[in-house]
Amino acid sequence: MDSIFKNRDFKLDHIGIAVETLEMGKAFYEGLGFKNMYIEEVPSEKVRVGMFELLNEARIELLEPTHETSPISKFLKNRGPGIHHICFKVEDIQATMKKLTAQGYQLLSQNPVVGAHNCLVVFVHPKSTGGVLIELSQTNN
Ligand code: CO
Repeated sequence: MDSIFKNRDFKLDHIGIAVETLEMGKAFYEGLGFKNMYIEEVPSEKVRVGMFELLNEARIELLEPTHETSPISKFLKNRGPGIHHICFKVEDIQATMKKLTAQGYQLLSQNPVVGAHNCLVVFVHPKSTGGVLIELSQTNN
């Protein structure tokens, strides 16, 4: 399929993993020697996020629901703990959203919201990505 994107437009930012609690979810990573989990609450997604930095620029993002209406609560109920989404960093999220919409991809919201690390984020529906929930993120300065 032809694309108006260049393959260098996207950088792996993090992998989001649904966990019952950060305490339970972090045990495996701490066992691997990961240290200094950075914790942040993200009200827009009703989650508490725990971030581990990898040796390259990518991160592991553990997602603990803070409310039963959180998308992560629903995910845990249906599928149990596991990989929830993959996040790509882009330079210009608005331009990327326009290009995606023009190519027929389905976005979960019309406008980006503020996610973890004060980034602007939007999700692409797994129906249009071959079954993977994709988060796009732009650093919000
Ligand atoms: Co994420």
